Amino acid sequence: MISLDALAGDARGGTLYGIGVGPGDVRYLTLRAAGLVRAVDMLAYFAKHDMPGNARRVVAPLVEAGRSEMRFEYPVTDEVPAEHPDYQQKIGAFYRETAATLAAMLRAEKSVGLLAEGDPFFYGSFMHMWRRLAPDFPVEVVPGVTGMSGCWTRANAPITWGNDILSVMPGTLGEELLTRRLAETDAAVIMKVGKNLAKVRRAVEAAGLLSRAVYVARGTMQGEQIMPLSECPDDRGPYFSMVLIPGQGRRL
Ligand SMILES: C[S@@+](CC[C@H](N)C(=O)[O-])C[C@H]1O[C@@H](n2cnc3c(N)ncnc32)[C@H](O)[C@@H]1O
Repeated sequence: MISLDALAGDARGGTLYGIGVGPGDVRYLTLRAAGLVRAVDMLAYFAKHDMPGNARRVVAPLVEAGRSEMRFEYPVTDEVPAEHPDYQQKIGAFYRETAATLAAMLRAEKSVGLLAEGDPFFYGSFMHMWRRLAPDFPVEVVPGVTGMSGCWTRANAPITWGNDILSVMPGTLGEELLTRRLAETDAAVIMKVGKNLAKVRRAVEAAGLLSRAVYVARGTMQGEQIMPLSECPDDRGPYFSMVLIPGQGRRL
């Protein structure tokens, strides 16, 4: 029988690994992700000011003391709207500098593992590094269980049946557009709910979907909350919160 370590494989010098760490519970890491967290020369992660870093927190049980790590702190998060030129300028410069730091490590033949919440290719900061570094360096992306998959599993809510069309949309959209897109689909996942919760609830109600909508905060994590959206007393959720609208397609 092959050992778990052999299955997970090792890390090659000079390669960037985008490591999807799954929705929050460390047990949902893939074997490859868990192996790389231990094998790479340098573990890198993004974090908000004064915060431990969400992806880093997920893998904490796998990280030995004294590990080589690099923390990249966002210069702004949601205090400035993403469309604002200040945000774009600051975050653009931050991503350029971070990519340059990672490139220097890769040129020095280090293997670098950049942690990503959920799946690295799904609304992830990792993609901004991938876009800059993949043309010049070997990159391996390790898929992760997405947050939405973790959430619908924990909510006991199969999301699509038969030919249901699933739409995934950010809660940052304007209320009218959100309502229209919701009304057009069979099943939906609304991401980035956080401070948009009140608007999202109004849009879900206007689309006639409130009775099916489930609110999930911190799915699979400590402090998880799952309830019908209609019963959620808050107007604002934590960063890790989403709304699920399960489809009603063919059931055999
Ligand atoms: C920038 S996106 C990152 C998505 C991530 N790459 C993925 O694959 O799920 C962050 C949003 O994902 C959603 N999210 C991710 N994990 C979640 C979880 N465990 N519980 C609730 N929401 C989650 C939240 O809506 C959050 O605002």
